[in-house]
Amino acid sequence: MPDNDKILKTLCKRLNHIAIAVPDVRAAAAVYKDAMGAETSEPTPVPNHGVTTVFVSMPGASIELLEPLGENSPIEKFLQKNPRGGIHHLCYEVDDIHAAREILRSKGIAPIGEISDGAHGTPVMFLHPRDFAGVLIELEQTHE
Ligand code: CO
Repeated sequence: MPDNDKILKTLCKRLNHIAIAVPDVRAAAAVYKDAMGAETSEPTPVPNHGVTTVFVSMPGASIELLEPLGENSPIEKFLQKNPRGGIHHLCYEVDDIHAAREILRSKGIAPIGEISDGAHGTPVMFLHPRDFAGVLIELEQTHE
């Protein structure tokens, strides 16, 4: 049994990225690159999450651009409501995602779905906006 109070103090270590859903990641990345001088990754399909991602790096900030991929993309509905795009989720880093899940459950906060592999190939889980001031939260385990 982990020491819940000790883990709780360090549950969220830092903001990992802000995710923005857009209709076209290439167009959105071009603006960040050409107008802001940010570094941008190549578009990368992440089929198990139904998105294509581009990561944008600036000093002190990392932005994940998301475009729907395939049928029933989880961001499709969001884009119907926000056709030009918009902030989709915030991602916080945790040391141990399973411990984080147990602690959050003990506080009455249930994750959406299961822990899965995220865009960085590390385990992630999502928390419902109703529990976090109207914002979808992703937790990402940043080391094993
Ligand atoms: Co994310």
